[in-house]
Amino acid sequence: MPTSSSFLSPDWWRQAAVYQIYPRSFADANGDGIGDLAGITSRVPYLEQLGIDAVWLSPFYPSHLTDGGYDVDDYRDVDPRIGTLGDFDEMVGALHEAQIKIIIDIVPNHCSNHHEWFTAAVAAGPGSPERERFHFREGKGLSGELPPNSWGAAFGGPAWTRVQEPDGTMGQWYFHMFSPEQPDWNWDHLDVQNDFLETLRFWSDRGADGFRVDVAHGCAKNMDPAYDVIRDIRDITPLCLDGQHPTHDRDEIHAIYRQWRTLFNQYNPPRIGVAEAWVPPHRAALYASKEELGQAFSFELLKADFNAHQFRSIIEKNVREAAGHDSSITWVFSNHDVVRHVTRYGLTAHQDSEDGQHIDVSRLLENSPYDGHGWLLRGGSNAEVDSDSGTRRARAATLLMLALPGSAYLYQGEELGLPEVGDLPDEVRQDPAFFRDRENTIGRDGCRVPLPWTATGTSFGFGDDDGELPHLPQPAWFASYAVDTQEQTIGSHLQFYRNALALRREFQAAEELTWHGSEGDVLHFSRPGNWHCLTNFGKEAVPLPAGELLIGSAGGITDELPGEASVWMKL
Ligand code: BGC
Repeated sequence: MPTSSSFLSPDWWRQAAVYQIYPRSFADANGDGIGDLAGITSRVPYLEQLGIDAVWLSPFYPSHLTDGGYDVDDYRDVDPRIGTLGDFDEMVGALHEAQIKIIIDIVPNHCSNHHEWFTAAVAAGPGSPERERFHFREGKGLSGELPPNSWGAAFGGPAWTRVQEPDGTMGQWYFHMFSPEQPDWNWDHLDVQNDFLETLRFWSDRGADGFRVDVAHGCAKNMDPAYDVIRDIRDITPLCLDGQHPTHDRDEIHAIYRQWRTLFNQYNPPRIGVAEAWVPPHRAALYASKEELGQAFSFELLKADFNAHQFRSIIEKNVREAAGHDSSITWVFSNHDVVRHVTRYGLTAHQDSEDGQHIDVSRLLENSPYDGHGWLLRGGSNAEVDSDSGTRRARAATLLMLALPGSAYLYQGEELGLPEVGDLPDEVRQDPAFFRDRENTIGRDGCRVPLPWTATGTSFGFGDDDGELPHLPQPAWFASYAVDTQEQTIGSHLQFYRNALALRREFQAAEELTWHGSEGDVLHFSRPGNWHCLTNFGKEAVPLPAGELLIGSAGGITDELPGEASVWMKL
């Protein structure tokens, strides 16, 4: 196959369709119940046929899996349960052969408590140079038995944990924004800065095309006790707009990413970064600038209701910000941290009530670990889901997203229309958010259940029929979402994604968007090349303009656009 010009372009990422793989739940080649890198390699033809431009691979590093791999024991190796460095090289080779780029996840805010520098810090004792790579402090109280301040961790409980000193006594406390097994790095320390540069170089040399930067807004910190007056760092509202919050979006953070950019630009094509930064759009633009990472996730559509007015104002704002900073927008509806969007849109409380009033969704959904971070199902929730409406809305929203300028991030399984598994038994759950705060949340495992590749088999083709069962159990109803069934079904969710992605690739043009008199429940915009997208957010059908219909999110569309549907047209 000749190499396409977009694959070769240094700007390949600006309008890429990027498919997120959560490796332990994608495909299990060795039948041990855990997805692996060889499994990904075996499915490259599937990814190629889907029509994506890049894969974003969630952490695959050695980890004790306290937080699904976001607790990294060793940044420059592969978890032996999911492969070897050789498997990584083979996977990258196969993806590149198929002209698919690879973005890997880098976790710079924290490591795991099994990382060798952290175990060395605990062993070396108070005042040692080893402890300076982390945030250790003396506790309060008569014998230091109270945490240094009242700050809470994102997954619940205090943000400080006390260690046992080498002499056996209980001693200092260390800071962790997430669980106690995820100590935060001290980014003022040169060792930390240099070690991450080495890690970025290590994977870039091995063919990684870019990095998704986990908790990008968190690395820089000021742990001066003067900040202890802030009662809880999870409340980011008072200070977050001026870069002066002790742990959130500090101004010094940009020096880190400017240093990374210098390294990225030593490669051809330059490596890219996309920041997971939970900050307002005008602050996100700094992370996304050319001097830094290039992109920062926009999570606003993900958090919006299925509502024309909300969608339009979010799109307008983001297009404006991106144009002002020469970055490109990233759109996303689902990822490994939030309830899958067919389910989110189908929650009956997420829909308008009959008298047109919007119902408060907070009964069913919980704002997840840190402020503004998507949606989780509440603990003990018996959420009612209208799956037909949820699926219609999800398809309509996805078709709209795929027509927008910028890059579109898709999460494994969304191309199958896979719903959230909301009723996993407590004993199989893995998410620390559930264990540390089960009163309030059931956590994120429901969107991480291994994919169904076939309608039959003990793991629906995820692994070997004679092998171990998948690490999270798949419900029986997964059979009807299986890839093999959908491949045979005209108009299936999978076929819809494949068609839409193929057309997107064909029409992709300059990053411009023009609105056409959108009003009420209908949004209508076009892209250069006479590529129009119309979305009906209401329930009643509306007439379509005369023109050529290219694709619809629902079947049987002719001269009317049904409720909860989108079309692409040439007018
Ligand atoms: C990742 C989460 C993870 C958290 C802590 C995030 O933003 O996406 O899955 O739990 O960082 O690493």
